Amino acid sequence: MWQQRVRQVWAALHAVITDADRELVQSYLNEAEQALFWAMNLPDQYHCLGVVRSARQLAVGRADVEERFLIRLALLHDVGKKKGDVSTKDKIAMVLLHRLAPGVRKWGREGRGGKVSNARHAIHVYFHHQERSARLLAAAGCEAALVEAVKRHHKAPEAGEPPELTLLRQADDLN
Ligand SMILES: [Fe+2]
Ligand SMILES: [Fe+2]
Repeated sequence: MWQQRVRQVWAALHAVITDADRELVQSYLNEAEQALFWAMNLPDQYHCLGVVRSARQLAVGRADVEERFLIRLALLHDVGKKKGDVSTKDKIAMVLLHRLAPGVRKWGREGRGGKVSNARHAIHVYFHHQERSARLLAAAGCEAALVEAVKRHHKAPEAGEPPELTLLRQADDLN
């Protein structure tokens, strides 16, 4: 877990989006969805593209997985983390805080403002971005199955879930 965070911060500092990435986004997302994708911070965009790559690898040979749905899910699962929401400094502070004080979750509150509000907002987004992502996607007219899977992506797996959601969780952990 800790090593994964270090890897994430490292990757975030070296995030680059290529033309191939832009083409992928264009071919799998409609305009409203693309707007949500590009409204994320660059490191989150980069993370989602990495999740697409891992998810595709995990899906090789799986006849039960619908590739288009899987790719859309990977691209859109974190759109609740919007640009300007959480600075890199806040994010690092929050990850450390979470490590030192697991009860920090209760401290989260939506709304930016001064330093303290921004820190509380960072905590809120960190723990609640899945519901926020789902809300934004529903408002953009996304299919219900996708909205539901996004809402559940940090929850414990349950029987009867779509296989694409299981693969998303695995791919998310690898990025
Ligand atoms: Fe997430
Ligand atoms: Fe993610």
